[in-house]
Amino acid sequence: MIERLLNLYDDQRPLAEASTIPAPWYTDPYLAEIERCIVFGQNWQMVGRTDQVAQPGQYLATQVGGEPIVVVRGFDNKLNAFFNVCRHHAAAVVQEPCGSVQLFRCPYHGWSYGLDGSLKGTPDFAGVCNFDRAANGLVQVAVDTWEQFVFVCIGGPGQRLNEFLGNVKQLVAPLGIDALKFFDSRTYTLNCNWKVFVDNYLDGGYHIPYLHKGLNSVLDYAEYTIENGEHFCLQTSPITSSQADAQVAASRTGERAYYYWIYPNFMINIYQGVMDTNLVIPVGVNATKVVFDFYFADVSPEKHDQNTASVAVSDGIQREDLNICEAVQRGLHSRAYQAGRLSVRREAGEHLFHRLLARDLKDAMDSAARTRGVDSQ
Ligand code: FES
Ligand SMILES: [Fe+2]
Repeated sequence: MIERLLNLYDDQRPLAEASTIPAPWYTDPYLAEIERCIVFGQNWQMVGRTDQVAQPGQYLATQVGGEPIVVVRGFDNKLNAFFNVCRHHAAAVVQEPCGSVQLFRCPYHGWSYGLDGSLKGTPDFAGVCNFDRAANGLVQVAVDTWEQFVFVCIGGPGQRLNEFLGNVKQLVAPLGIDALKFFDSRTYTLNCNWKVFVDNYLDGGYHIPYLHKGLNSVLDYAEYTIENGEHFCLQTSPITSSQADAQVAASRTGERAYYYWIYPNFMINIYQGVMDTNLVIPVGVNATKVVFDFYFADVSPEKHDQNTASVAVSDGIQREDLNICEAVQRGLHSRAYQAGRLSVRREAGEHLFHRLLARDLKDAMDSAARTRGVDSQ
């Protein structure tokens, strides 16, 4: 059944001959579950900011692929990540999304763990036989950082973060985003599959003149460029001086806008002195949470109103995207639609996304089939 679904998409076709991934990939709950395990469970995922775990004892807790995890800065200054699951009876050891501790103490029966994950205390546990304390620490998760972003990989990562990012690092380094500071966050919930939001982001500005008239007034749509890396797509546009929409123009300054997408679900949008990141999190086959984090060069109180106005511009653009994404999801459920063709000029990024996704899913199915073959021998 799942093989039949995966075979509906041919990831070998060049862009000029390619179609989108088929509609059932956006609506099938079983495929969504495989994505949760494979796409989100085996790739690097951005989970937070380095400033949240800058000091020893500082932690952040979140979920990746539906799994609770915690990232903490140890007293040796090393960053550690663990499944936030107590080894006693599986309660979440950390309850708050962020904070600072000397020790993790499980709220259920009081087991405690060091910041290196080692099991420290087990109240009322005398007399328990064959209990290997050293083997009952919190289970480790791969963690690494790039710029001000913390990434984890809950499956054994196939590549180090460095290798996975490839030349994104060299491309982003000169933009100086490490000097930008976190200002505020907005979370949107959309009634669509997570891939609809990613597709919308990766259409090479195709929708901008029609859907975002305000944004269109400051971007040079004709000069929009799209460049694919191994696991990322960079879309850029010169910023024009037409200034038709003064409010948008005031918050989208500089010479160029840079839109980075990193497979599968993380985007970084950079203007001069302004950045926002988008993290796209599936919460069901038809529901997606998108977290926008806003950064500015100057986050002092004097700039508060100006920064708030910039966030409001983004919010307006986001609402335009939200409505169209939900309309697309309704269309994907229609018997009238199976898949659509891609613009060669605009939609190379979407093509890359679909091929990477198909490769992940097909590799997982192949290795599951191999395992079944071994088992049945
Ligand atoms: S579940 Fe954590 S101490 Fe019992
Ligand atoms: Fe948009």
